[in-house]
Amino acid sequence: MAVNLKGKHLIGIKHLTPEEFVQYIQMAEALKRDYLAGYRNELLKNRTLAEIFQKPSLRTRVSFESAMTHLGGHGIYLGPEDIKLGQRETTEDIAKVLSGMCDVIMARVFKHEAILDLAKYATVPVINGLCDTEHPTQIIGDFLTIWEKYRKFEGLKMTYIGDGNNVCNSLIYGSALVGTHFTAICAPGYEPKAEVIRDAKAIAAKYNTGSTIEVSNNIDSVAGSDIVYTDVWASMGQEAEAEERKKIFMSYQITMPVFMKAKPTAIFMHCLPAHYGEEVVYEVGHCERSVIFDQAENRMHSIKAILVLLTH
Ligand code: CP
Ligand code: NVA
Repeated sequence: MAVNLKGKHLIGIKHLTPEEFVQYIQMAEALKRDYLAGYRNELLKNRTLAEIFQKPSLRTRVSFESAMTHLGGHGIYLGPEDIKLGQRETTEDIAKVLSGMCDVIMARVFKHEAILDLAKYATVPVINGLCDTEHPTQIIGDFLTIWEKYRKFEGLKMTYIGDGNNVCNSLIYGSALVGTHFTAICAPGYEPKAEVIRDAKAIAAKYNTGSTIEVSNNIDSVAGSDIVYTDVWASMGQEAEAEERKKIFMSYQITMPVFMKAKPTAIFMHCLPAHYGEEVVYEVGHCERSVIFDQAENRMHSIKAILVLLTH
């Protein structure tokens, strides 16, 4: 039975039930089918979305704005210089003002606490468009991509190689929700936080999904993977550490020989933007088993699903 998500916030994958997570994916698949068939509905007619961006974006911004336009609504971009979240005025006041004018708020922020504050004070749904701990809208699109390739989640082995960051965290929670086995292969000291692993294991146990969550420093642990996933070594806001991180992570680069250690049918995934020659070589990123552009496109379809489900 469908779960009613109207009026809820999307704070993180960690807070979802398996039913909610799968419902976003199923709705995204349905809306994608409609869109590709040339059918345009008006599910968000006359609705307005406020888009708060403290950081740059290509995919997330264009996905939200295209989603609103395709479904008959409108998105308002509020960049770092426009509202200066928490500097020009408080997050509480911004949340209350936007709630009086807009139907939904999405925010890409530095600190997760800013998402929690927006959600605390807003009377309309708040969507986390990336923070330091999670990137939920990315992961819903990614699991749509995995579904399209494998038609299942349970029992697949996903291996994430690189920095145990926001994307890695959300992938861990998503895997735990649907029974995907997850291994994070990270440079020593850059593994996902112990509490993330603990919480993900608790999710897998609570819903009895059978998902196992492993952490390794050994790149050979990629053997037998169905999915090989990576992300940048220095996330937005960590630019000052980029050079040092390049040295620390270089032995974790996904080259063709590394990718070949996974199953011969394995797919390569990256949330993008990619830094070719760092976390992955161009040859892997653009090989025929790479699904990076399917992932990017699926951002839009899944964001449509999120907007529709939170407002209906
Ligand atoms: N993957 C992703 O969130 O891309 P952008 O940073 O370009 O939005
Ligand atoms: N981990 C990256 C993801 C970008 C989509 C970052 O936070 O910059």
